[in-house]
Parts: sequence; structure tokens; C-alpha cells
Amino acid sequence: MEIVIVADGAAVAARAAQIMAWAIRAVPQPVIGVATGSSPLGIYRELAAQVRAGELDVSNVTAFALDEYIGLAPSHPESYHHVIDETVTKQLGLDPARVHVPNGHISDILTSGDDYERAIVAAGGIDIQLLGIGANGHIGFNEPASSFASRTRMKTLAPQTREDNARFFGSIEEVPVHCITQGLGTILDAGQLLLVAQGESKADAVAAMIEGPVASMCPASALQLHRFATVVIDEAAASKL
Ligand code: GLP
Repeated sequence: MEIVIVADGAAVAARAAQIMAWAIRAVPQPVIGVATGSSPLGIYRELAAQVRAGELDVSNVTAFALDEYIGLAPSHPESYHHVIDETVTKQLGLDPARVHVPNGHISDILTSGDDYERAIVAAGGIDIQLLGIGANGHIGFNEPASSFASRTRMKTLAPQTREDNARFFGSIEEVPVHCITQGLGTILDAGQLLLVAQGESKADAVAAMIEGPVASMCPASALQLHRFATVVIDEAAASKL
């Protein structure tokens, strides 16, 4: 695992965007994995600026999101369909037909995980997967005790995750209880992993991911098993290393 510690959130975004742009330029048909949450937003802004400046061609990019809430309509402002559409697809000018988000419709849930796995394989696999980290060490919505071999499937959100994400909703009661997420096995299949974190609230999770044991109680510790994982964090997130 390569650990890059920079001064602040702006520097995290700049460095991570540079790594994403390298990966996009490296192959003719790039497949990127994108994440929601606040951590990657600066990266998307940086990449969009490169696209506008004519420095980055994203016309052949295919994207796969990590996860989705179950039970929110795709048009709901907090559904990850909507969030990815606003923060990634529109901002970078990606072809919407090439942007995939797991199907969180409850009536499809028995098949939507396998369908998503097949779509990733059909696209040729993910070249670079961008990740944030939850305060409890989750990646995607793989909460503590997720299997390292898991594939895209339905999960129950941890109470802490629902509390953390309540800020995006009117109240905690409005935060869905279930989600669909790429599994840790799915994430580990990507050619490169790029995890970003900023702020002191992530310091414990970052320390457990990097210096703790490889253990399912810290799902992000799975990055220790990957041959090409890069972690870009600011000094506050690195403060417990
Ligand atoms: C969310 C997402 C994760 C994200 C994490 C951290 O629940 N499912 O993919 O990495 O929580 O979010 P933030 O970057 O806002 O701290």
C-alpha cells in the first residue's frame, strides 16, 4: 500500500485527481469506479476542470458506482443514482449510458447484485476504483464484519452509518436501512485502488486500515491485500498513524 500524506483536503483532491487522470489516459477504454460521500467531491471538480481545459478526454470512460440505497427512487435527491448523475456524469460530461449505479429497487434485489457483477465483467473489469472510508472503516457500504470474498449484494446499514448520513436527509428516520453495495471481493478485483480521506474524524479508521490487522471488523483493511492500492490523506486523517 502506498500512503501519500498531504497538507489538506484541497491537496488530497489535487493529488487523487492526478492519479485518476493518469489511469484514464493509460488505456483506450478506461473503466473507473466512482464513490459517493463528501470525500471525492473535490476530485470530481478537479477532473471536470481538466476536461473543460481540453487536457483530459473522457469520451470513452465507463463508470461504475460502488453502492446505492434500497428503496429510494432514482430521482430522490439522496439516491446515489441522482448524486452520481449530478456530481460525476454531468460535471465530467460522461456518456450517461456508460455510467452504472447498482439497482436498489426492492423488487429486483434478488438479481440486481449478479446483474451488476456481470456488467462489470462485460466492461472488462474496473481499472481504478476510487474509495472513501466510513468512520467505522467501511468502504462502499461494506460494514464491519463484511466478508473479504463478498460480491455485490444487499446489506443492512450499521447504525453509525445511518447517523453519519442523516446529515444528507431531514432526519435519521428518513435514512434507508438497507443498501446494495459492491462486495469487498468485487472491490479487490479492480486493477488499482485509490482511497481518499480528510479530517480528524477519519483518523481512527485510517489507522486501523493501514496499521491494524487485516480483519473484517475493519473492511478497509482489505486494501492491505491489494497489489496496487494508493491512500491519499491529509495530515488530520493521518494524525493517528
Ligand atoms: C458513505 C458511502 C461511502 C463513503 C463513506 C464516507 O456512506 N457509502 O462510499 O466512502 O460513506 O463518506 P464521506 O466521504 O462523506 O465521509
